[in-house]
Amino acid sequence: MRILVTGGAGYIGSHACQRLLKDGHTVVALDNLLRGHQKPMDMLKAAHAKSFNFVHADLGDSKAVLETLDTNELDTVMHFGALAYVGESVEDPLWYYRNNISSGIGLLDACDAAHGGKGIKRFIFSSSCATYGNPPTNMIPVPEHCPQSPTSPYGYTKLHFEHILKDYANKRTIDNNPIALTMLRYFNVAGSDRTGMLGEDHTPETHLIPVAIDAALGKRESMSIFGTDYPTPDGTNIRDYVHVEDLISAHALAMDSTQIGQIEAFNVGIGKGYSVREILDSVKRVSGVDFTVHDAPKRAGDAIALYNNPAKIKSTLGWDAQITDIDEVVASAFNWLKDHPNGYRD
Ligand code: UFG
Repeated sequence: MRILVTGGAGYIGSHACQRLLKDGHTVVALDNLLRGHQKPMDMLKAAHAKSFNFVHADLGDSKAVLETLDTNELDTVMHFGALAYVGESVEDPLWYYRNNISSGIGLLDACDAAHGGKGIKRFIFSSSCATYGNPPTNMIPVPEHCPQSPTSPYGYTKLHFEHILKDYANKRTIDNNPIALTMLRYFNVAGSDRTGMLGEDHTPETHLIPVAIDAALGKRESMSIFGTDYPTPDGTNIRDYVHVEDLISAHALAMDSTQIGQIEAFNVGIGKGYSVREILDSVKRVSGVDFTVHDAPKRAGDAIALYNNPAKIKSTLGWDAQITDIDEVVASAFNWLKDHPNGYRD
């Protein structure tokens, strides 16, 4: 297929480009490089000169997106481009809504106008388990039919965009020009690709696993646990950590399975929850370093416990996580960060 990957220079988007190229697709990555990196784009271009292109543009720039879709005859969009920090979204909600919603609508305008008004055929959206907020206890592990009630502006941007996409897909059906829409609600994504080429390089870095690895590597003196009196067995938050390559496999399966005219939502998570303390224990085991950890106040916007019920994605897409051992996930992240102490600047 011929695929536009928004946010293609970011952590998850770059892994998607790599996998889609390996599968023989034509890929154009579009990124404003606010949080993404030029270097993985250059590496992918060097490896796939004929089937890969990078466009430096904002996804809200409908004119640039339209030109990209038309010139490259792209009919499928994987939409990764977004601001994605829960804590940051509480501090600057309008920025999050402007970027994740307003720019997203700009992207949809281009998707609608593409190919002389025929529009694109397939849209796969990076949604989030943050749309569930704090699910009722009888809904953990979380199924797709769990009520969606986010605890952060970030979660709301993802939920609102799901609604916008459904309305757009329904309009395309009414127009007798249907689209295949898949919304993938990610749990916590971690690790890096097996070849060691791509990794996770965020500025600022706020995610638990890379922050803990930075502490193990001595790049920071210590780290903090945000909240130690949550109603969980050890008092810390629980999350489901899915390896980035398994996550991208879900995209590949969704692209092939969701039929034109269908609207589908799937959770993507391994189906097992780990507390913050359990993750820190894993980073200590993998690194062999007993770094300093402080107890700190709760971070605004954090949900208490979120892990997936993978029944639907298993039965419908045949997806299953290949990497389920948390030390393996952590080791995959650790190895890249150890080999690239300055991230993509190395
Ligand atoms: N945490 C700490 N200390 C840190 C960093 C994080 O205790 O230094 C805790 C957080 O409070 C939270 C857990 O570790 O309880 C995980 O936090 P992350 O920042 O790693 O991830 P989030 O769950 O907040 O958010 C991530 C992505 C979102 C995605 C979400 C799905 O950033 O885009 O996972 O749960 F939607």
